[in-house]
Amino acid sequence: MNYARVIGCGGYLPERVMPNSELEDLVDTSDDWIRTRTGIRQRHIAREDETTSEMACNAALGAIDMAGIEAGSIDLIIVATSTPDLIYPSTACLLQKRLGIRNGAAAFDVQAVCSGFIYALSIADQFIRSGTMRRALVIGADMNSRILDWTDRTTCVLFGDGAGAVILGRSDEPGIYKTLLHADGSYSEHLQVPSGVSNPTADPYIRMHGNEVFRFAVQAMDEIVDETLADTGFTRKDINWLVPHQANLRIISATVKKLGMSMDDVILTVAEHGNTSAASIPLALNTGVRDGRIRQGDTLFMEAVGGGFTWGSALIRY
Ligand code: COA
Repeated sequence: MNYARVIGCGGYLPERVMPNSELEDLVDTSDDWIRTRTGIRQRHIAREDETTSEMACNAALGAIDMAGIEAGSIDLIIVATSTPDLIYPSTACLLQKRLGIRNGAAAFDVQAVCSGFIYALSIADQFIRSGTMRRALVIGADMNSRILDWTDRTTCVLFGDGAGAVILGRSDEPGIYKTLLHADGSYSEHLQVPSGVSNPTADPYIRMHGNEVFRFAVQAMDEIVDETLADTGFTRKDINWLVPHQANLRIISATVKKLGMSMDDVILTVAEHGNTSAASIPLALNTGVRDGRIRQGDTLFMEAVGGGFTWGSALIRY
């Protein structure tokens, strides 16, 4: 039987750090308000000339190096992003060019906002399980700073930029046990960037009904715990680490409670990274692996909710 297994991970954060105190100069907010309501202390902001594919490439190089593979052995590249470099070609194709991969590997983007990495991971898992592909590069990369209204205090304090990457290899043993993907487009107006190709003159910034997103996220993340564990033979006690989407500490705390875990069992990056959308889970994974907390054989539970609404989870043996 084929399984997909994480054989390397990497992360990239732009050099520039923006602490909450800097936002106090831009909008009517305070470090205390931001910390108390969200857990965020700072975020990283990309250079003006930086691109999503460049951030993705930096994260990919770290993952390729950890996996100890040649980039040319990758046969599938999926980039989860809501902030692509161009309308087309896809950021995945631009990343393929940056990495110099010329073996005909499939490359495409996935757009599921903050759940994008879980979507991309699940898609790659299906290809590897089916035997169609052997080795996948799965990335979450977002440059939220470009779509933030820096005069809107209800959104600009929440987000940051970054990229995270994993290499999935084919293995006889799991690996990825199970992924779940969900969406309900009837909630689309609660978290959106109104402008687009069909509507180029509309508002180009993230607009959000924070309370509705919060309520939905807490409930969806609560329900997905049991749904994910069902029929796997795993119980909550078998989970070593929660590696959640990092939007808000209070949403994460609610999931921790549901899992009967302690905050010490969570890889938390929200304080330092803010919400990096599709990048947040692979960045958290990379943090936990590189600081030695996540070890080979550990069982990880990943979950995310994002615009759409989309939501999903992954149960993984690292
Ligand atoms: N600084 C100071 N005050 C702020 C503020 C800011 N950055 N943003 C909002 N406020 C104000 C509001 O205007 C409101 O003032 P009012 O009572 O005078 O009207 C007050 O703070 C409370 O606002 P409210 O929206 O009820 O706060 P909250 O406790 O719900 O926290 C969020 C707001 C955005 C932090 C919270 O709703 C949240 O985290 N939602 C989910 C967001 C998310 O995760 N999105 C991404 C999903 S992938």
